[in-house]
Amino acid sequence: MPATIVTGLQWGDEGKGKMVDHLAENAAAVARFSGGANAGHTVVVNGRRIALHQLPSGLLRPGVLGIIGASCVLDPVSLTEEMLSLEEEGFPVDDRLTISGNVHLVHPAARYFEKTDESSLGEDSVGTTGRGIGPTYVRKFSRRGLRLEDAAIPGSFTRRSNDMAEECVRQLGLGREEEDALREETGVFNGHALDLVTRASDVSMVISRILRSDGIVIAEGAQGTLLDPDHGTYPYVTCGSCVAGAACVSLGIGPVMIDEVVGVMKAYNTRVGNGPFPTELTDELGDRIREKGNEYGATTGRPRRCGWFDGVLASYAARLNGSTWTVLTLLDVLSGFPELMVCKKYQLDPEIDLTLFETGARLGRHVPVFETLPGWQEDITGETSWEALPKNAREYVLFIEKLTGVPVRAVSTGPAREDLIWRT
Ligand code: IMP
Repeated sequence: MPATIVTGLQWGDEGKGKMVDHLAENAAAVARFSGGANAGHTVVVNGRRIALHQLPSGLLRPGVLGIIGASCVLDPVSLTEEMLSLEEEGFPVDDRLTISGNVHLVHPAARYFEKTDESSLGEDSVGTTGRGIGPTYVRKFSRRGLRLEDAAIPGSFTRRSNDMAEECVRQLGLGREEEDALREETGVFNGHALDLVTRASDVSMVISRILRSDGIVIAEGAQGTLLDPDHGTYPYVTCGSCVAGAACVSLGIGPVMIDEVVGVMKAYNTRVGNGPFPTELTDELGDRIREKGNEYGATTGRPRRCGWFDGVLASYAARLNGSTWTVLTLLDVLSGFPELMVCKKYQLDPEIDLTLFETGARLGRHVPVFETLPGWQEDITGETSWEALPKNAREYVLFIEKLTGVPVRAVSTGPAREDLIWRT
């Protein structure tokens, strides 16, 4: 049985959690392949809004195994808190979570380094989530990171971890208060890492056994393609790879094991943090989308920047991921607008070759050329039938489908699990 990958085609927060939860209904396992506690995957189950940060969204389905891949970065303290709160919500994790022993741990010192880095950049700061993601990846690639498997030897693990805290105190010249706080956080971190090591495994082996016995595996991406460090709006990106290709690396499975790549995108665009955003709306239309769509970060609570759907970037992202089909989410948020705009090309060079256009910081020079489409006034929240959608809503979806060149197989019309239209 081949595996399915789910990735975001914008700047994150596309609604991947809801889609993964859907696909997990018949799955044996859901495996997170990138990012860490910077993510916020929201699923609404029986009217209750559950935000997952490091745990795979499939854990909300009974009997589904959750897997955390090697390319993620793991904060043992917040992961433990997340497991406890999921249990309180009635979704016990028990023995349904296994973690790659190779995963790098987010040491408390990483957050101190991140704070210093961000404030030294001033106006050019990335606007990170403050979860220690960047410094943990930096340490990984400088080959000095702490991995979960290291906690199997408690003495040397604790020594190395304590040394990392002392190194941070020295390098950043922390004051007494911060120094004490970091030492205390390091003690708590050490304890949780030592507890979690019992969950360490060879996830490649776990997944290959499931696939060989005909089980379905869903690989769950985090953030979005435009935040990818290689292909996104660098330097305003995260540090873990967000594209579908990264799933194979993180989970230790060959590309031939994948048959579907699902791209999730909102019916408009949003972004949290700094960086270029050609279709951004800085007027009351943007505020209206933000309020209607509750566009506030699930992890940091920050207001998201909102704008019209960018078809150029969505096509680019669909190509990078090799999306076989897409899901258009939050279509209900666009009800009530007299007209809607969709960016169909950029003005810098109308003949621009999509393989060459600049996605880095210079993306901001690109001026969007919009197609104006008529809106619809009916409230479509919770609609589950394609035929019952207003004609203009269907035409909006079909326009985006044509622009991206990938079939939109599902449309989400509300936050709840069941608010979904399948187009067959
Ligand atoms: P970091 O991942 O905390 O280093 O943040 C780098 C950039 O990615 C910032 O602009 C964040 O706002 C953004 N980012 C990180 N995780 C997410 C996410 O899950 N959704 C949306 N934006 C994110």
